[in-house]
Amino acid sequence: MGRCIVVTSGKGGVGKSTITATLGMAIAGAGAKVVLVDADVGLNNLDLVLGIEDGVIYDVSDVEKGRCRLTEALVTHPFQENLSLLSSRALVSGKITERGFAAVIAALRRGFDYILIDCPAGIDEGFHRAVSAADEALVVTTPIPASVRDADKVSDLLAGYRLRRVEVIVNRIRGDLVMKGEALGVSDVRNVLRLPVVGSVPEDDEVLLSQTVGRIANEDSRQYRAVLLIASHVMMGTNTLYDCTAKYRGILGFFRKMAR
Ligand SMILES: Nc1ncnc2c1ncn2[C@@H]1O[C@H](COP(=O)(O)OP(=O)(O)OP(=O)(O)O)[C@@H](O)[C@H]1O
Ligand SMILES: [Mg+2]
Repeated sequence: MGRCIVVTSGKGGVGKSTITATLGMAIAGAGAKVVLVDADVGLNNLDLVLGIEDGVIYDVSDVEKGRCRLTEALVTHPFQENLSLLSSRALVSGKITERGFAAVIAALRRGFDYILIDCPAGIDEGFHRAVSAADEALVVTTPIPASVRDADKVSDLLAGYRLRRVEVIVNRIRGDLVMKGEALGVSDVRNVLRLPVVGSVPEDDEVLLSQTVGRIANEDSRQYRAVLLIASHVMMGTNTLYDCTAKYRGILGFFRKMAR
C-alpha cells in the first residue's frame, strides 16, 4: 500500500507545486512508483509544471463520478515512466466530495508506492479534502515572516488530523542574505514552527528556466540537489539538509555575495 503525503503551505505561491513535481521526479528516479495528485481545483497547474498539459483528458472528478477508469485519467510522464499525474480541472473538480476524493486516493494506494498531493493554498474546503486523505504532511514555507506565520496556522490545523508526520520544507532560501543576517535561516523557521525541518531549498533561477520550457527540474541545479536530499529523507529517513549558504563561503563566496 502506497504512502500518501500532502504538500501544503497556508500561504500561496511558496513553491508547493514546484516541490511536489520535483520531489516526485526525485523519488521516481530512485525507482519507486509515484503519482502526483493535483488537488488545487480551480488554479490547477501541476500539469504545466510537469510539462504534460497536452496529455490530460480526464481528471480526478471524472474518476470519482465514474466517467472514466482510474487508469484512463492517469498521465505518465514521457521521460519518467515511474511518474504519473492525476490532474484536476476548474469548476468540475470543485464538486468532488471529501469522501469521493479519499476513495480515489485509496485506489491509487494499490498501484503506487508514493502518492503526493499538491494542496491548494489557504485553509478552505480544498485544504481539508486534501489533508484528510493523507498519512503525512510536508508544510512548505519561504523564509518570509508572513509565510512562516501561515505555515504555523496550518500546522495547528494539521494537529487536528491523524497524520503520522508533519514536517517542514523551507523553500527559496537566499544563502547570501542569511549569511549577512538579513533573512531568516532554517533554524529561525524551526524555532517558530517547532516542527522538524526536513528540507532547505535555495532560491535558484534554474527553477524559472526549467519551468519556462516545460521541464520539471534541471538535475544539475542546486534546487534539484536540495530536493534529492528531501527524497532521501522521505524514502529512507535520512536527515541531511542542503546547505544553502555554502556557495557564499570562502574567498569565492565573498565575491559571489558581493555580486548579488
Ligand atoms: N527554489 C526556488 N527558486 C526560485 N523560484 C522558485 C523556487 N521554488 C518555486 N519557485 C517559483 O515560485 C513560483 C511559485 O511556485 P509554485 O507555483 O510551485 O507555488 P505554489 O505554492 O504551488 O503556488 P500556489 O499556492 O499558487 O499553488 C513559481 O514561479 C516558481 O517557479
Ligand atoms: Mg500550486
